[in-house]
Amino acid sequence: MSKKYITTPIYYINDIPHIGHAYTTIAADVLARYYKEKGDEVFFLTGTDEHGAKIAEAAKNAGKEPKEFVDGLLPRFKEAWKNLNIEYSEFFRTTDPKHEKIVQELVGKLVEKGFVEKKKYDGLYCIACEKYLKSSELVNGKCPDHKTEPIKQSEENYFFKLSGPAISSKLLSLINNNELIIEPQTRKNEVLGKIKQGLEDVSISRAGVEWGIKFPGDDSQTIYVWVDALLNYYTATKIFDMEAWESHPADLHLMAKDILWFHAIIWPAMLLALDLPLPKKVFAHGFFTVGGQKMSKTIGNVLDPNKLADKYGTDAIRYAVLREFPFGEDGDISEEKIASRYKNDLGNELGNLLQRTISMMNKYGVTPDRKRSYFLTDEGEIEEADEEPTAELLYDDHIKNLQFEMALQNVWKLIRETNVLIEEKKPWVLAKAENKIELERVLNLAFYRLYSVAKLVAPFMPETSDKMKKQLETLKPEQLFPRIDS
Ligand code: MSP
Repeated sequence: MSKKYITTPIYYINDIPHIGHAYTTIAADVLARYYKEKGDEVFFLTGTDEHGAKIAEAAKNAGKEPKEFVDGLLPRFKEAWKNLNIEYSEFFRTTDPKHEKIVQELVGKLVEKGFVEKKKYDGLYCIACEKYLKSSELVNGKCPDHKTEPIKQSEENYFFKLSGPAISSKLLSLINNNELIIEPQTRKNEVLGKIKQGLEDVSISRAGVEWGIKFPGDDSQTIYVWVDALLNYYTATKIFDMEAWESHPADLHLMAKDILWFHAIIWPAMLLALDLPLPKKVFAHGFFTVGGQKMSKTIGNVLDPNKLADKYGTDAIRYAVLREFPFGEDGDISEEKIASRYKNDLGNELGNLLQRTISMMNKYGVTPDRKRSYFLTDEGEIEEADEEPTAELLYDDHIKNLQFEMALQNVWKLIRETNVLIEEKKPWVLAKAENKIELERVLNLAFYRLYSVAKLVAPFMPETSDKMKKQLETLKPEQLFPRIDS
């Protein structure tokens, strides 16, 4: 048994959660459930990022005080994760006074250790990113991610001394030696490239932002929201009493590529400066568009995970988002794609197979042979064994490598083969011909396949897995994914 500490980003609480936030959270939940099922002790952390200019602005637009505003939105996040059956261990909030206190202490330590310098800075700030952008990063004068013009800021700030060879050469060697694993490989190359280009000092305070944690020793400044946010991964281990965990801060930080820079460079650099251990792995998945377009309120294509889960069920959403395209790559989703996965993969392929198999067992009086196992040989013959044969699945490897869509493809291969088997062997013909032995073998094989499938889909579709197991135990068939009339 080992211990695993897995995190999602803490999401900005300036609006209600959308399917993009749900995507990372579902992936983390699948991993957490997978490892728990294997007997590992898992600490799965998610939460909300509640300070900074972006939240303050959203609160102001809503005519509320920032704290009142974030408190008001919090239930929407918790409710969404409940609807999606997310079993997080703890929910983190950066407005937790315990976090605020530890963050001040840690920033104080950076100052004490000589890693902080006060200087004047003129820059272009994107509030939506909550970061300064270089003019070379702009596209037609706008932030490439948010398509908005950054604002000119000239402030005297505290800077984290990231430039200079000390930290960057350490980071380079840690990443090259895989002591700090960055995946996928393309993202690792990007990170290495950026470090080699030379790192600049990072501003870690704001003079003009009141909604934040006060900078230690200078009440006129607040701690930069990203420093406050990244430290959550560490402060959580103190707040939630994880002292006994060998691995601080984390085994795996999950996020999309938009914030990899902060997780793969700034965060490890801060930990190095503080003499704290580094995370083991940082994995940046892709970004998705909705129906071919960037998800945006203006376009009106923002997908609400709650509404989708109400319509298609929690498991269908969990399945569809991870099945649609490889986790590390960019891709596209839409309600149509989810509906089609629901109808085809879940309803027609999985649901029908279960219902048919159980109905035929009842109809033809075949009882599951629980003492033996049945499997298909490469030649398409049905073999029996006393023990469950180890299906040649790369499922475990796929999940450990975060290749969720490949793991699911593998499971669906089993389902499809079993459907083909039934079509080819035609149990109804075998029953008519009174070929009892072959009939029992075919239906038992389908039965065992379905049992394996129920186990394999458990991290992705926990409710479906339970329903399948129950139906296979009681031999009472019920539609798993009833038709939805849209
Ligand atoms: N508050 C920071 C994170 C601080 S972590 C120390 C933040 N929050 S965010 O609300 O903007 O969330 C960004 C994350 O949401 C992405 O990294 C990704 O995990 C998820 N996604 C948001 N939109 C997404 C897509 N369209 N596609 C895929 N993931 C998306 O950044």
